[in-house]
Amino acid sequence: MQAGVGAMAGGVLGFLAEKLGAENIKTIIVEPNQADCIYRSGLNAQGDMVNVGGDLDTIMVGLACGEPNPLGWEVLRNCSTHFVSCEDKLGALGMRVLGNPMADDPRVVSGESGAIGVGLLAGLYYSEDQQALMDKLELDSDSVVLVFSTEGDTDPSHYRDVVWQGKYASA
Ligand SMILES: Cc1ncc(COP(=O)(O)O)c(C=O)c1O
Repeated sequence: MQAGVGAMAGGVLGFLAEKLGAENIKTIIVEPNQADCIYRSGLNAQGDMVNVGGDLDTIMVGLACGEPNPLGWEVLRNCSTHFVSCEDKLGALGMRVLGNPMADDPRVVSGESGAIGVGLLAGLYYSEDQQALMDKLELDSDSVVLVFSTEGDTDPSHYRDVVWQGKYASA
């Protein structure tokens, strides 16, 4: 799940953990690397929240938040298994993959912040370190992965720049 302040992810994960048991699910929290306050909080050995300052300059505008939500952080700290900090190009990759599905998969028009979950998975797929990264994230070919797209093309012009023009190319 993508995180800005982590309130959405904390709410969804709290629900899923209660229904399924936190020990039965693995949760990867993903953020833009220019606004990765949850990731940095996860790295903090004391478990306290860490704020991120500066311009928070990312195409994933909905996730451009520098201060974790305290209630969300409590759930994310206790129940999620991995924190990932991503470059913008993975959000762009996710938009292109979702907009150009294989076979009968439905097309999803997703904006930058909504597409980062699929972008991360696609980035893993194309990575030279695919196996090592999948091992680290405890993913294998039998994994069933739930991702949420949380926005459409809220900026249609930028959507076309990314999906048609290839802006923020991966390679
Ligand atoms: C499109 C989109 N997705 C996800 C989120 C993440 O929500 P939160 O800030 O609760 O982590 C936001 C936040 O505004 C958003 O705009």
